[in-house]
Amino acid sequence: MLQKTPPRRDLRTRTPGGASARRNADEAVARLAWWQKAVFYQIAPLSFQDTDGDGKGDINGIIQRLDHLEWLGIDAVWLCPIYSSPMLDFGYDMVDFCAVDPLFGSLADFDRLLAELHGRGMKLILDFIPNHTSDQHPWFTESRSSRENPKRDWYVWADPGPDGGPPNNWLSRFGGSAWEWDHGSGQYYYHAFLKEQPDLNWRNRDVRRAMADVLRFWLDRGVDGFRVDASAVLAEDELLRDDPPDPKFDAETTPPPQRLTRVFTDDRPESLDYLEELRAVIDEYPDRVLAGEVQGKTNRIGHFYGNDRPRFHLPLNFALLDAKWNAVALQAQIDAYYNAIPDHAWPDWVIGGHDKKRLASTIGKAQARVAAMLALTLKGTPFFFAGDEIGMEQVPIPPDRIRDPFERLVPGYGLNRDPERSPMRWDSGPHGGFTTGEPYLPMGDDVERRNVRTLKDDQRSLLWLYRRLIALRRATPALTAGDHRPLRSRNDILRFERALADQRVLVALNTSPQPRRLDIAGTANLLLSTNLDRDGETIRGATMLRADEGIILALDA
Ligand code: GLC
Repeated sequence: MLQKTPPRRDLRTRTPGGASARRNADEAVARLAWWQKAVFYQIAPLSFQDTDGDGKGDINGIIQRLDHLEWLGIDAVWLCPIYSSPMLDFGYDMVDFCAVDPLFGSLADFDRLLAELHGRGMKLILDFIPNHTSDQHPWFTESRSSRENPKRDWYVWADPGPDGGPPNNWLSRFGGSAWEWDHGSGQYYYHAFLKEQPDLNWRNRDVRRAMADVLRFWLDRGVDGFRVDASAVLAEDELLRDDPPDPKFDAETTPPPQRLTRVFTDDRPESLDYLEELRAVIDEYPDRVLAGEVQGKTNRIGHFYGNDRPRFHLPLNFALLDAKWNAVALQAQIDAYYNAIPDHAWPDWVIGGHDKKRLASTIGKAQARVAAMLALTLKGTPFFFAGDEIGMEQVPIPPDRIRDPFERLVPGYGLNRDPERSPMRWDSGPHGGFTTGEPYLPMGDDVERRNVRTLKDDQRSLLWLYRRLIALRRATPALTAGDHRPLRSRNDILRFERALADQRVLVALNTSPQPRRLDIAGTANLLLSTNLDRDGETIRGATMLRADEGIILALDA
């Protein structure tokens, strides 16, 4: 087994406050739950590693690549759906929540993956998709078979509106009406996403029981928690009231599904009640975690933690992905987020994902290094997406290779999610070592330069930066458990401190492509630069940050 290399320099080597301060810091870290200390790595199994030559990744492929995760220092994996599915939406359309799709392998392969991860000290959380099933799911087959079927009420059915059309104006996120006519039983069913993804009716107690049992099935197998998909849309208004038009809608530029403000289909109070029930199931098991996709609205995110009745441990926070990338905008986003979450809440930061454009494309390769340093030094649990650590960009997809139904149904608005799902590149061989067959999505034309093997040979690469940042974070209690202290960002430099016991760490990130001067009070020891070439420097009073350079400094307490 590979050893995690200790960071070359960390605060352990220089704790002026001495042994008792050091003990306090260590105790603060020890009090945290594993998921508060963890660095999470998201894997979309289709895009990670293929072992059977069908051009699509599989579970054995993940097992084969665990050395990479261990070398990086990853603590926990979030695995996108592996369940049995017709794969119309990348596996987010299940026919069986408790079976592994043969495309990915078997339940035995899954158990082996879990055991391998646990054997290496890593955790695994699964995607849990409560909002909908595939229309091929046996529950839906029963439900649509007749109005009298006992499972009729397991989905959201309604009579036509007065004009014989859909019951109301609700829109599917993937285009068109959210209602689909079922000729056989003479009613419409509701689907927030594809018409092949009918929404479950969470008002029905039996649905909630069945879904709780799905959680228990996987928890009993030993998984460490879940990322709950589309959790803000579990319930819709019972009165079926029309959504109002969005005043910001611009027919030229806004995708048609965003024509309405989703007052009656998103963020309904009942959804939060159902999340409390899911959390109660999780809490039947020791030491598990519930993370959730909450549609990324900073001003609403606090509600998803819950109060006396807890909801998510980690409502996923996309603020950095949605921010304008400059020091002033970022400091505002960060502040708004910390202020929006309850006092007891533990923050988190997401910098990549299977639904989000790659940062290396949106903010550029140079700032992607800054983003890595930011996410791994802010207070809170960081999440990144496989491929971010090698700076993968949006891979262009020719029209005949488009897979994402979102792009097919709402074309021309830049909504295609295939570009960020392009397969992982492991080496400069054919198809980047991803498959011996034909990759299901294009690999991009920079595979030879940008792959794990090549970047590993360059100790100043982004890949090494990720590794060094993760190691430094783990070795530095102030970075893991310390308070966040905002500083006023100026001169294009985003600045903040992390503080714990007698440790103070300053993070200063130059968001501009020009050198910028950073003034500090007193002297400091440079722990890490995004360029990986200055550690150990002593800074007295001021230093120049090079273009796009971020640094982490240990300040005198
Ligand atoms: C979530 C998933 C996304 C999927 C949608 C419908 O938003 O992240 O990939 O398309 O749910 O299941």
